[in-house]
Amino acid sequence: MKLTLRVNGADHDVDVPRRATLLSVLRDDLGLVATRFGCGAGQCGACYVLVDGAAVASCLMTVDQAVDHEIVTVEGLAQDGKLSPVQDAFAREGAMQCGYCTSGMLISATALLRRSSHPSDEEIRDALAPNLCRCGAYGRAIRAVQRAAAT
Ligand code: FES
Ligand code: FES
Repeated sequence: MKLTLRVNGADHDVDVPRRATLLSVLRDDLGLVATRFGCGAGQCGACYVLVDGAAVASCLMTVDQAVDHEIVTVEGLAQDGKLSPVQDAFAREGAMQCGYCTSGMLISATALLRRSSHPSDEEIRDALAPNLCRCGAYGRAIRAVQRAAAT
């Protein structure tokens, strides 16, 4: 089925099965591989992308559901070659180890700061709770979101 997806500010024509997941189309058809496959069941947060500004599990969303929505992946967070405040804060805090969860964390943190520019520590923990990190980098990720909010 031919569809047009709006991803990272540009329209992309794809010809894919209607029930393909948004995650598979982003990775396999658009080459946006920063969005990770983890559990495939909405349980780990590795595949999160922004859909109209909210963090959404792209492994659970079918590509036809994504039509007419504004999709942003981690590749779309930086502007004019400059890291977004959240990306910059994660880098400065060293808020990653293996990095597998980092894309999803960046998306959750970005969505949080869009709806609440000065979140409480509890709000930050709640926002990052769906993002599983096997390396246990939660403390640094929380500090990074605090840093991003302060800037
Ligand atoms: S891969 Fe989508 S939530 Fe785990
Ligand atoms: S940094 Fe390795 S899973 Fe989070």
